[in-house]
Amino acid sequence: MFIDQILVGPLLNFTYLVADREGGEGVVIDPSYGVDTVLETIDRRRVKVRYVLNTHSHADHIAGNPEVVQRTGAKVAAHRAVPFRPDLPLDDGSVLETGGIRVEVLHTPGHTPDSVLYRFDGHVATGDTLFVGECGRTDLPGGDPAAMYDSLLGRIVRLDDALIVLPGHDYGVSPTSTIGREKRENYTLQPRTREEFVRFLAE
Ligand SMILES: [Fe+2]
Repeated sequence: MFIDQILVGPLLNFTYLVADREGGEGVVIDPSYGVDTVLETIDRRRVKVRYVLNTHSHADHIAGNPEVVQRTGAKVAAHRAVPFRPDLPLDDGSVLETGGIRVEVLHTPGHTPDSVLYRFDGHVATGDTLFVGECGRTDLPGGDPAAMYDSLLGRIVRLDDALIVLPGHDYGVSPTSTIGREKRENYTLQPRTREEFVRFLAE
């Protein structure tokens, strides 16, 4: 398996191309603005893209969906709460398989109601729920600080420490991290009550 982390667009989005091998089957996570680089990578790697996976419905995570679908015939998969009609509406616990890759869906609302993580083969794509050293904003429409607390401190801190974190933006000191490192170093993942967390985010 390989993972290409592709930095695209003015907002420092990360799009990911994941495939079982060069010339094999794969998925694209969050095609953003500046999708040409992603299309070039797909061509160079000769990947048959079966699914476009969106971590949530914000424009900078779905903007490149049409181009990737047009080029590859991929099906779009996203949480069923997104305000568009995905080919495959996902729920917490949904599983997608292509080639040798098995992707599990974890619903983690807070940044948006439709935010999910995609966990596959020792990695977790965290979208705008968790960045390296930071969490996503909860003050945009659909944001919910209490839900973010449950996602971060109820779910994410319970994931395997060794999982490699693949964030939705290049906002941290490094482009990737691990759950274990984030639990130690990310100030938003430190132990707090829900009330403390909501107050802390409002500050
Ligand atoms: Fe977002």
